[in-house]
Amino acid sequence: VSGVDLWYARTRDLAGSPALETVWALLGPDEQKRHDRFLFEKNKLEFLVTRAVERAVLSQCLAVAPTELELVRTDYGRPLLALPAKLHFNLTNTVELIACAVSREGEVGIDAEPLARADDVIDIASSVFTRGERDMLDRLPLVDRRQRAVRLWTLKEAYMKARGLGMSLPPEQFALRFDASEPTLECPTAVDPDPARWVFVTRELEDHLVSVCVERSLEARPTPLEVRVTALDAAQIDTMLRY
Ligand SMILES: CC(C)(COP(=O)(O)OP(=O)(O)OC[C@H]1O[C@@H](n2cnc3c(N)ncnc32)[C@H](O)[C@@H]1OP(=O)(O)O)[C@@H](O)C(=O)NCCC(=O)NCCS
Repeated sequence: VSGVDLWYARTRDLAGSPALETVWALLGPDEQKRHDRFLFEKNKLEFLVTRAVERAVLSQCLAVAPTELELVRTDYGRPLLALPAKLHFNLTNTVELIACAVSREGEVGIDAEPLARADDVIDIASSVFTRGERDMLDRLPLVDRRQRAVRLWTLKEAYMKARGLGMSLPPEQFALRFDASEPTLECPTAVDPDPARWVFVTRELEDHLVSVCVERSLEARPTPLEVRVTALDAAQIDTMLRY
């Protein structure tokens, strides 16, 4: 199956729902400990909903019971399936929105930020954007600049996450160009030997921008990437977790 699936849930829809008890029973001891270490309820909820979306989506895509899913973490903190599968996934979480991207084409990374964080992103522009990216932002009228800054930041994080490196890949070492209808990656070959393999898309969901970066094969590249978006509510997630 080509294209990318983007699943998302709003944390407030799951607060107090039976799905949280269902997912709790699926967690390993380390995950339960990590949950308990969060001080604030909103962070506990964000963590649990992330785990719920992760388990629900993976079990559905792999047609495997959630109790059978085995997840591990890389040294960079990225969750992966313990056993090799022809499926790539990545998660992003904010206080209000949790999203998961699944691709069978190649690697995938996802990032979401609330549009309301535009000013925070602009504040850190000098440390995360390249000179060219900052010039591009500066040329835009203020309203467009705020939206574009969030889009640019989520796109950059989506790429760093698709690479599995997160912030260990310095964001000023690569740039996104917006000349084409969708952005393209520009970087030295030392950073990425084949920048053209990545396709970038952004969707606005629930007052957030959600960006996805997908690796495409040479044969797939001429075909536009299909993006399928699915909203999940508490009842759907609970059903998926009881598979
Ligand atoms: C991975 C990283 C990029 C996470 O960024 P983040 O914005 O905090 O969080 P996101 O919600 O997008 O992603 C978190 C999820 O990404 C996944 N993840 C963690 N490490 C990852 C990695 N190395 N590669 C890919 N995915 C990773 C996990 O699923 C994680 O959630 P979980 O731990 O609950 O499973 C991290 O390297 C980091 O250092 N972030 C700093 C972010 C920052 O400074 N933001 C400023 C915003 S203005």
